[in-house]
Amino acid sequence: MGHLCAAWGRSVSLACAVYLTTFWNIAGTQRGLWNKPRRCAINGKVFPHHQELTGTRPVNRRDAMPLSRRHFLTTAAALACLPHRVLGAPAILRAAPVTAQILPEGDGETALWGYNGSSPGPELRYRAGDTLEMRFENALDEGSAIHWHGIRIENAMDGVPYLTQPMVESGESFDYRFKLPDAGTYWYHSHNRSWEQVARGLYGPLIVEESNPPAVDQDITVMVDDWRIERTGEIIEDFGNRHDFSHAGRLGTFARVIASSGAVRKGDRVRLRLINVATARVFPLEIAGIEGKIVALDGMPLPEPQEIGSLLIAPAQRVDIIADVQDTVAFVFPTRQEPYPLGEIALQGENPSPITEPIGPLPAAVITAPAAVADHSVTLKMQGGAMGGAHEGDDIWSFNGVSGLTDVPWQTFQRGQTVRITLVNDTSFPHGIHLHGHHFHEVRDDGSLGAFRDTTLLQRQETRDILCVFDNPGKWLMHCHMLGHQASGMKTWVVVT
Ligand code: C2O
Ligand code: CU
Repeated sequence: MGHLCAAWGRSVSLACAVYLTTFWNIAGTQRGLWNKPRRCAINGKVFPHHQELTGTRPVNRRDAMPLSRRHFLTTAAALACLPHRVLGAPAILRAAPVTAQILPEGDGETALWGYNGSSPGPELRYRAGDTLEMRFENALDEGSAIHWHGIRIENAMDGVPYLTQPMVESGESFDYRFKLPDAGTYWYHSHNRSWEQVARGLYGPLIVEESNPPAVDQDITVMVDDWRIERTGEIIEDFGNRHDFSHAGRLGTFARVIASSGAVRKGDRVRLRLINVATARVFPLEIAGIEGKIVALDGMPLPEPQEIGSLLIAPAQRVDIIADVQDTVAFVFPTRQEPYPLGEIALQGENPSPITEPIGPLPAAVITAPAAVADHSVTLKMQGGAMGGAHEGDDIWSFNGVSGLTDVPWQTFQRGQTVRITLVNDTSFPHGIHLHGHHFHEVRDDGSLGAFRDTTLLQRQETRDILCVFDNPGKWLMHCHMLGHQASGMKTWVVVT
């Protein structure tokens, strides 16, 4: 075993990218998901509605041999013997068509787009302060670029075609090289025609570890996504339709989690890094089988860990949890009818010496606090969409009556200025507003500083102030992360000089 572990060395994150998954029944009841659980039986396949392991195969078949049950057990044992933190990343991310097993094993495969042969792409793992060096190769038939979501990044590496870099056309490549200033859970994704490219699978986790990480037995990345696919697994090719854009976006017919580990022991302390990679769906999420705390949001540590309760995760948001395993870890999407199971991590054995220290805060990020009095206050009003009022913009959605990017930025800030932005959702849909290159504080109703995030969710007709220290020079996008909304007007940009 020891040999095996040593031999794996730096490539272990690729092993993690095999994404052993353990999912069960996905015949759902949520509106927008397949709506008739019984029909599955009629189709000749009964998805068990209880915690039954139906698949342990990697998402991508091309990359690895299908895993038999025996394979799976060996792999799980191998994972358990590895130190839980092994850094490593490939040096190239190559975007190309892939085949993925999104539906339970035995059901049809799905043709997607991915990186290095799989969707999701490989998990990239670094340590805070490291420099990420990555060649992006585009083997798609259309232009693309990679955005490193949530990283307080050097502007030229932000991955926004035409704003921060040239488009990486089909057959071309682009070299990314930047420092990772903060530990936390981040992700990377395509930033061209993202409503389609991300929906087709062009994303992956980017994990930046603390230099002195909290003690856990396993550090597990859990992406949650939905796909608009047929029951055969075939993708429904209606990308970019105006009906989706003007409503809630491309909601899937099938949803599940993709976890980087298939098994835990009773008594293990785990870190779960949840990432909502969906292009439109806000996921309410309940996690059974663990007892613990939320320790970070959008990569940034909470000053005090919080109770987990019921989670609500908007597209692009992340939630880090540290918890102790009591039972099979089950991810559930609560719906108005019955709960929709998103998948589970199996229980295998018991940890003979559980970690018992209380779950404390993660080391704080070193970041400039906002000034007591903001240097500027501006308002960003979301307008448009179906069942929305009239607005001045020339597309479906607008910010302050302007749809899409204009030649001049919406705002120019001096480096270091604290800005209060009042976000007003004057529409009939929720929006997750993301600012590139920075994190910002949500301001609570009582005026106190709330979570430090890069994406904030505003329910319909909701208003929220955010406070941001614009200390990262460059041209930064601010847009709705419901990616169809972004594509049809809900985006703008600012300059920090
Ligand atoms: Cu995660 Cu501009 O996006
Ligand atoms: Cu939106």
